Amino acid sequence: MSDDTRGLKRGLTSYGDAGFSLFLRKAFIKGMGYSDDALERPIIGVVDTSSSYNACHANVPDLIEAVKRGVMLAGALPVPFPTISIHESFAHPTSMYLRNLMSMDTEEMIRAQPMDAVVMIGGCDKTVPAQLMGAASAGIPAIQLVTGPMLTGSHRNERVGACTDCRRFWARYRAEEIDDQEISEVNDQLVPGAGTCGVMGTASTMALVTEAMGMMLPGGATAPAVSADRRRIAEATGACAVSMARDGRTPRAIMTRKAFENALTVLLAIGGSTNGIVHLAAIAGRAGLSLDLEAFDRIGRDVPVLVDLKPSGRHYMQDLHHAGGLVTILRALREHLHLDCVTVTGRTLGEEIDAAPAGFEQEIVSSVADPVYAEGGMAVLRGNLAPGGAIVKQSAASPQLMRHRGRAVVFSSVEDMGARVDDPDLDVSAEDVLVLQNAGPKGAPGMPEAGYMPIPRKLARDGIKDMVRISDARMSGTASGTIVLHVTPEASAGGALALVRDGDMIELDVAARRLTLDVPEEELERRRGEVTERSHEGSDRGYLNLFLSSVLQADRGCDFSFLVPAATGKVPSSDD
Ligand code: FES
Ligand code: MG
Repeated sequence: MSDDTRGLKRGLTSYGDAGFSLFLRKAFIKGMGYSDDALERPIIGVVDTSSSYNACHANVPDLIEAVKRGVMLAGALPVPFPTISIHESFAHPTSMYLRNLMSMDTEEMIRAQPMDAVVMIGGCDKTVPAQLMGAASAGIPAIQLVTGPMLTGSHRNERVGACTDCRRFWARYRAEEIDDQEISEVNDQLVPGAGTCGVMGTASTMALVTEAMGMMLPGGATAPAVSADRRRIAEATGACAVSMARDGRTPRAIMTRKAFENALTVLLAIGGSTNGIVHLAAIAGRAGLSLDLEAFDRIGRDVPVLVDLKPSGRHYMQDLHHAGGLVTILRALREHLHLDCVTVTGRTLGEEIDAAPAGFEQEIVSSVADPVYAEGGMAVLRGNLAPGGAIVKQSAASPQLMRHRGRAVVFSSVEDMGARVDDPDLDVSAEDVLVLQNAGPKGAPGMPEAGYMPIPRKLARDGIKDMVRISDARMSGTASGTIVLHVTPEASAGGALALVRDGDMIELDVAARRLTLDVPEEELERRRGEVTERSHEGSDRGYLNLFLSSVLQADRGCDFSFLVPAATGKVPSSDD
């Protein structure tokens, strides 16, 4: 570590005189009370994403203390620094709109400041993908730590947790099954404390696939936010970052094609959030790999859902932690994984599985022979309505709607849906197909989680719980239903979705992986001439301007075109 490109000497600010630049840097950091001894050690940056807007990150200050302890015990100097923080409910217009900004912030602050490795503390949905995208691009050794899932709450003796139960109670309220008093009571219990949503939402999904990819310590995905386990993991993460700095183990050495294949396999086996596929496409893109949706779908034909967590199943993340966490899943999936992938520890995934505490009887993770759902959690659909692909979370859909033909009821935007979906005069029946246009990456903009369209109130009152719904939007990982998402290209980028009119017939056939708009090609061509480009207020400048001019479609992870290097390969790959 005596080398001139390490520690405080790394990436000197340019004053044209290297000696003076270091002298000045030292003078300022000594102004915070550091000794020469402290400053001559490797520096481990620690990304602080705490914010009073972000309950999912409320334990970050505690985790930073534990990380610092781990770094110092291993003989290096921890230096926490902030980046932006994104919480799902507090990010307007959407958290997805800001994910790439956070990835740029993370990348550039890692690059700008002297550090030999970095610990990234994320958790809430978009933060972990943003940090991994940034780290893949920045290139120095990096390790992910998550804040961990929140514990469950209790409402009238019923176990509840964000956010599947938030949706369930709200749907019951809309259907007038519960009153004002009860909806306000349950509102106090759904988020009982610090941490990320306790179901298999996007945060849990990203934590598990990140551990599977080798970018997090074994056991790091599931420990509850407020547990002692979580702090011990944080301490060990700090120590691991020091060894990574010494060995020069970079994200690109860990996030290889095979590591992404492991992540995709785990994504399917956990019944993970549909957002997971968008984020993995974006992270892989930063590592020079393009996502092959067809090959992903083929993996899903072989890899069943093994984890019985809401929204596809019954349990919560703390139960998965008690069932052994990710390693229980990895053991069950063993023959579907590349065991030779190197992880942050320097050992391979296979070595880590073998070194983990022995397995035991539990009821959260099932075997491949007796799965929760016979295929992978997601299927990829194609057809004239989605030539670039669309996703359906089949494990959380209604079996009787998986093959369905119905009349389209079209909403031209999220606002139009909000204004009309509950109109008593809306011409809609349970067999119809709800279609939402202009809610994709460019359309809304920011690809909101509006794909979980509400069941029109008059049908909800009659007890209708699910309908086929199709959009270019995303859906929260905590939601369920027969919902087709990420239609590509989106309506606002010339997609056929923009051409659907009320009364058109649409056919969904999940088993055949088809999504068809039953309208003659000549008629679609004619309608194409009627489509007008949507304008967005304020798009003449600023981040919105950058976003609209650069955002890629869902199949490319909605990254910005200028952040993605030329692809050198595909993932998953069909050879080997
Ligand atoms: Fe942060 Fe769900 S809102 S993880
Ligand atoms: Mg979410």
